[in-house]
Amino acid sequence: MAIERTLSIIKPDATKRNLTGKINAKFEDAGLRIVAQKRIHLTKAQAGVFYAVHKERPFFDELTTFMASEPVVVQVLEGEDAISKNREVMGATNPADAAPGTVRAEFAESVGENSVHGSDAPETAAVEIAYFFSGLELVG
Ligand code: CMP
Repeated sequence: MAIERTLSIIKPDATKRNLTGKINAKFEDAGLRIVAQKRIHLTKAQAGVFYAVHKERPFFDELTTFMASEPVVVQVLEGEDAISKNREVMGATNPADAAPGTVRAEFAESVGENSVHGSDAPETAAVEIAYFFSGLELVG
């Protein structure tokens, strides 16, 4: 098992409901270390660059409008197999399919407003971390 880093976003539906601490507790309880974190308010254009891979999807406009609607918390999680571990902690994209105890099962409101984002592979994690953080901001 390798020590990895993954990009996590606590989304507007969760920051709005004051759930940042509860979600961070789930990450930390799973052994993930928060090595960088900041609260920012994305513009719709910035959200569009982050989610460019989805730009042809029918939900792209809804997704970018939502991500710019309220502040988000962007963070880097570090640990053994951090990418897949974080995806386990988050649960399935659609909260209706998320396993009990996962972030999305407990907190997500819908497939669109699903409380958290996590990188899906090492290559995307590297690109997504670099979108929000400089090397100096990653404090392991
Ligand atoms: P995330 O892991 O951030 O990656 C892409 C996001 O698109 C996903 O979580 C969902 O929030 C969103 N998404 C996926 N499918 C739909 C959908 N059918 N309708 C609205 N949003 C969606």
